[in-house]
Parts: sequence; C-alpha cells; structure tokens
Amino acid sequence: MAGMAFLYSSLPFVPTVTARVKRNKNRSTDIGNRHLRCRSRRILVLASSGLGKREVKKKETFMITTPLYYANGPPHMGSAYTTIAADAIARFHRLLGEKVIFVTGTDEHGEKIATSAAAADAIGPKEHCDSISLSYQILWKDLEISHNKFIRTTDAKHEAIVKDFYSRVLQNGDIYRADYEGLYCVNCEEYKDEKELLENNCCPTHLKPCAKRKEDNYFFSLSKYQKLLEDILSNNPDFVQPSFRANEVQGWIDSGLKDFSISRSSVEWGIPVPNDEKQTIYVWFDALLGYISALLNDGDEPTLDNALASGWPATLHLIGKDILRFHAVYWPAMLTSAGLSLPKMVFGHGFLTKDGMKMGKSLGNTIEPKDLVYKFGSDAVRYFFLKEVDFGNDGDYSEERFVNIINAHLANTIGNLLNRTLGLLKKNCQSCLAVDSSIASEGIEFKDTVTSLVKKAHFHYENLSLSLACETVLEIGNAGNLFMNERAPWSLFKKGGSSSEAAKKDLVIILEAVRIISVALSPITPTISLKIYSQLGFTKDVFEKLTWDDTKWGGLKAGQVMAEPKPIFARIEVDKGGDEDTNPSKVIKSKKKKSQTQGLVEAS
Ligand code: MSP
Repeated sequence: MAGMAFLYSSLPFVPTVTARVKRNKNRSTDIGNRHLRCRSRRILVLASSGLGKREVKKKETFMITTPLYYANGPPHMGSAYTTIAADAIARFHRLLGEKVIFVTGTDEHGEKIATSAAAADAIGPKEHCDSISLSYQILWKDLEISHNKFIRTTDAKHEAIVKDFYSRVLQNGDIYRADYEGLYCVNCEEYKDEKELLENNCCPTHLKPCAKRKEDNYFFSLSKYQKLLEDILSNNPDFVQPSFRANEVQGWIDSGLKDFSISRSSVEWGIPVPNDEKQTIYVWFDALLGYISALLNDGDEPTLDNALASGWPATLHLIGKDILRFHAVYWPAMLTSAGLSLPKMVFGHGFLTKDGMKMGKSLGNTIEPKDLVYKFGSDAVRYFFLKEVDFGNDGDYSEERFVNIINAHLANTIGNLLNRTLGLLKKNCQSCLAVDSSIASEGIEFKDTVTSLVKKAHFHYENLSLSLACETVLEIGNAGNLFMNERAPWSLFKKGGSSSEAAKKDLVIILEAVRIISVALSPITPTISLKIYSQLGFTKDVFEKLTWDDTKWGGLKAGQVMAEPKPIFARIEVDKGGDEDTNPSKVIKSKKKKSQTQGLVEAS
C-alpha cells in the first residue's frame, strides 16, 4: 500500500475535461479546540473544515462507526472483527457515561454487488442485498453487538442524503465531467495505479487481474484539497491512527492528489447522478455518506441538515487498513467541499490472516464466525480476537491457540477463581459475606494492586489498545489467584478462631476483585460479566446500570448473599482421539450449545 499513488498518476491517459464547472479557491483547515475523548492524551482536533458550519451539535456524543460491509456475501470473521472491536469501544464509552452512537451497516450498490447478485441467481440485486444484510444483522445479534444504527445504502433516506450532498459539492464547483481510462479492480471498487499491481495487472489484495476500462465520468476535484489535507495531517497528528498508518497517508498526499471519478456510466445498480440519469454515483462516494444518513432518526425528514444535527461529526471511524485512503484522504476532502465537519479520528486496524493471506470472500479463505460462536460462544470469540490480535496489526487464527487461550484465561484464571472462592464461602459462611470489602481490605496490598491495574486498563481502553486492556484485567485475575494461594483460606478455616475470621475476609477480598474484573471486562465479554454479577448475588438490572466508577474497590457489602456456585465458563474439551471426523481434534462442548449464550454452558 505504501507506494500507492492516486488515480491515473502513471496511467497512459490523462482525463480530457469535457465540461468543467466553476471552482472555488482551495480552503485551509480551521482547527477548532474540541477534545477527542477517546484518547487519554488530550489533543486538539478538527472541529470544522472552515466552510459553512451547517450542522449544529447539541450535545457532545461519542460517535463510532464500522465500515459498511459489502453485501456481496455473508459476513466472515474479518468483517466481524472490526465490529467486535467497535462494540468493545462503544461499550467502554457507555460505561464512562457518555452518549454513544454506534453505526454499522451494509454497502449495497455498485458493480461488485450487482455481479454477485446475478451469480447468486437472486430475483434482483435488492432481494440479494436483503438476504445478505439480514445475515449481518443476525450475526451482530449473535455476537452481542450493541449498535444503535444499522444503515443500508439502499434505504430511501440514504439516497436522499447522497443526492443532497452531491448537490452541495457540485454547487461548490468541485464536480466536472471527463473521459477516463484505467485499470479497475472490481473487488476493491477502485481504479488502480499500474505501479501498485502485481504480474498480469493483478490486484495485490485480491490477487485477481484488473480490467481495462474507458468511461465518460463525473470527477471530484480532489487535487484542490492538497493543501487542506497536508494541513489536516500536520496539525492533527492523531487524525490517522495508529501513527504508522498516518505515514502511509502522508506518502499518498506527498505524491500529489489526483481527481477521482465519482460516477459510473456502465453500472446501473446505484444511485442515479442528479440531472444525469445515465450515470450512477460511484459506490464509495455513495457508501461513505452512510455514516451520516445513519444518524437520521425515525420520522425525520431525510435532509442532510437533519442527519448532521443528530450526532455528526464522528468521533472515530474504525476501518481495516485496506480502506484507509478512502477514509483519510477522499472523505475529508468530500466533507470539506460540502461544508461539513470532519471526523476526529480514523483508526485503521490490521487484517486477520490465514496462512499469511488476508482472510476474505474474494480469496475464499475465511473462517465462519457463526460456526465459532456456535462452538465456543460469543464472549470467547470476542475475547480471543481482541486479546490475541494487537489492535492495529495483523493477526493469525488457529483453533488450537483459540482453545488454549480461552481455557487458560476465561475458564481457569477468571472462572475458576470465582468458582473456588464461592465454594469455600458456601462451605464456611453459608454463601454470605461477613464484612464489607472496603473493611476486609484494610492494609492489604492486593487491593492497591487491583486499583492500579484498573487505572491501567482504563488507559488502554481509552487509547484503543484493546489487547493490553484485556491483558491488564487478566492480571487482576492472576494476582487474585496468587493472593488466594498465598493466603490458603481453606487451611485458615480449618484452624478456626481468628484464622477463620481472617479467611472470611480473604474470601470477600477475592470476590471483590472478581467483581471488578467483571465490570472492567464487560466491554469485551458482556455475557460472562453478567454471569459473574449474578453469581455475586446482583440482579440483571444492577448489572445493566453499571458504570466505570463501579470498578472502584468497595462494591461488595457485608450480608450480601452469593448465588449457588456454578462455573461461569466451562472449559472447552478437545477430543484428541481419531474418529470418522476428519479434523485432528474435535471440540466436544460444541454439541451442547445452541443459543446466543452458547459457550456459557453451566457445567454441573
Ligand atoms: N464497503 C466497503 C466499506 C465502505 S465504508 C463506507 C468495504 N467493505 S468490505 O466488506 O470489503 O470490508 C469491510 C471491512 O472489513 C474493511 O474494514 C475491511 O478491512 C474489513 N475486513 C475484511 N477482511 C478482513 C480481514 N481479513 N481482517 C480484518 N478486517 C478485514 O470495504
């Protein structure tokens, strides 16, 4: 990606301008002083593009988006990954008490979708998209995704927003008509620069040859925004994250921005260009606007102003690294042209790979997320990918590693700690806490360890270091197990007298630590966290009202009665013996599970 140049920079044909509307002068960035709340380092970020500030934002919200997924096939683990990460971040910000708008959806226009619909023998592309979009919505439910908005780019309200936006860009003099010839990758839905292609003009991501195309299209004057984009990057070092991806964006900008075509004369399946029904709007120009049209509330008239007033600008666009150029270069320029505020941050994560290759529908090397959820439960899937893939970099999947990690962390470190403590409490205290946790922990160093780990976890969540956030919460579990083993309350109970009183306090201390783990890990493992809270004798209602403040030491009080101890997460047992199953190992637990809470079977 690093060497990619913009459209037709090295292509043999220079576009011939057939009609050009008057353009305005380029504009520079006007840096406001809003703070990006998802970074702990408080930084100055873009508050507006400097053009007409049309949107009036009533209340600071945390608006997070996933990409809108192509409806050319059902979701795979790669697409689920972005959404799981976005969900964990959204849940964390809700815990902080912020108003969160979490947008996801499906991208349903363009050649790629029309071709896949035709190949699938669907009645028409819309019916095809209906079924694919539904499969995303079902998976999001199974993975416990807590989005507030699901936008489909075939929604009528979206079309109205795209047309409104197009008119504003046109009015601003940034759209003109020209001929264009180049090499097109349908899977990327993008004209490619020959320099970035492999042998036989193959796309490096999809390993398929790009086709030569010649079209008479409408173009967007991206080149006018060269200076603006340079300023955005230099004035807002955190606009593109992780920082090494900002360098990539800088490289594209430095190599000179070229105008790009925003319509297709050869594609029928799309939104017609206003005033030219023979052309449809380029799928990327259309889809990016889904982030805004998603904001419309039921019953709102579908105007850009109404959508913008409901939460724009986005705080964070979470995307995969392959679509960085669209989000960090095209999108800010488009928004500026229309006079709208810019998103505060674009974070490009890495790929889930299989044998080193990007997992994807085009290469056919995907893992089925619904199978994983069926076998192991949603929390295990969420935890594994967020803990084991360093957010921002690529990560490989293997079932063996999955089983080992989940057993070690969720079943043993956290689950067992709770279970054996509750077992001792039942046996020696009738499942009732003898003393407040704040009193039990007086002078106990372990409490300070927990408090400082909670602070650290908060820091990592805020910095989108999801793996480190998981690791830090797990450290509380490790410290809890160590405390338990050192104190050995089971032998203290045997001694009786003051030793027994000390043991009662120890159990309260450990349970308080597990309670804190439950709150701090709830953005990642919401189901397990609820199970822990129920075991600790709280209602679902109490759990649902938790905030990050509840990670403070002292939540458990004397007299609280714990539920019957049951493992919150059963170990995944792998049968290594060969049978007719061609898999070398077979996951036994899978047979028991069915619903959304699969994986959380309660072992007897
Ligand atoms: N439709 C566009 C996005 C438009 S946003 C206005 C698109 N769709 S996609 O379905 O191809 O990809 C959606 C997201 O899934 C991208 O962020 C992409 O990086 C991500 N992933 C697809 N395969 C992936 C992996 N194997 N690993 C991690 N994420 C990957 O692009």
